[in-house]
Amino acid sequence: MSNNKPIIVANWKCNPLDFREAKKLFFAVARKTKGNKGAEVVICPPFVFIPFFMERKGVLRLGAQNCFWREKGAFTGEISPFMLKGLGVEYVILGHSERRNYFREDNKTINKKVRLALSSGLKVILCIGEKLTIRRKGKRAVENFLKNQLKAGLEGIKGKELKNVFLAYEPIWAIGSGRACPWEEAEKIKIFLKKVKRLPFLYGGSVNSENARDFIKRAKVQGLLIGGASLKPKEFAKIIKESVL
Ligand code: PGA
Repeated sequence: MSNNKPIIVANWKCNPLDFREAKKLFFAVARKTKGNKGAEVVICPPFVFIPFFMERKGVLRLGAQNCFWREKGAFTGEISPFMLKGLGVEYVILGHSERRNYFREDNKTINKKVRLALSSGLKVILCIGEKLTIRRKGKRAVENFLKNQLKAGLEGIKGKELKNVFLAYEPIWAIGSGRACPWEEAEKIKIFLKKVKRLPFLYGGSVNSENARDFIKRAKVQGLLIGGASLKPKEFAKIIKESVL
């Protein structure tokens, strides 16, 4: 890793609906985070907005929310990681629970995507996380589940390429629920997963300006993956501020 700055990733998901809104949001974030040197701020908008933002991103970094597992060819509707890299995109989020759930992406598919994305030169934010039903089974069940997801996602990836992988722990029950994982619990998961694979560890799931500091300063996670709160520039800027204080 190049530095130890917290990495604050905005996952806009399928928002906002129109280009005007998207520009408004992007420039508001850019304005509010201008001069920030304490954190690496990565905006992951829908694909269609990326080229426009690339020209105007200033200190912000850009990421994608998905990519395909084949380089190019007859795959209607897909986006190659090489296309993203060519545009100047730095990061790609892979394995998000919404992709796993709504688009039936399994560990094998995700692993193929991770491999190709790394070979294109993108940095990968690999998401893993358990459902509430697994959490209810207790610590061992959660640890086993996460360990499997992590190992399967990284199968066949070695050495130098691993330096471009960031792990995001996003418990499904915490995503969009307003019920973030307690920082003490996230810290324990971090310690456990670092033993499986030493990767920069991000937390995601109902992060806001009230709890961001606990994750960064107490649980000592390397970064945050933020959904809902990243669509509110004031709140998002506050999260960044809390993370670098
Ligand atoms: P949330 O989403 O911050 O809205 O909980 C996080 C994510 O899904 O990445």
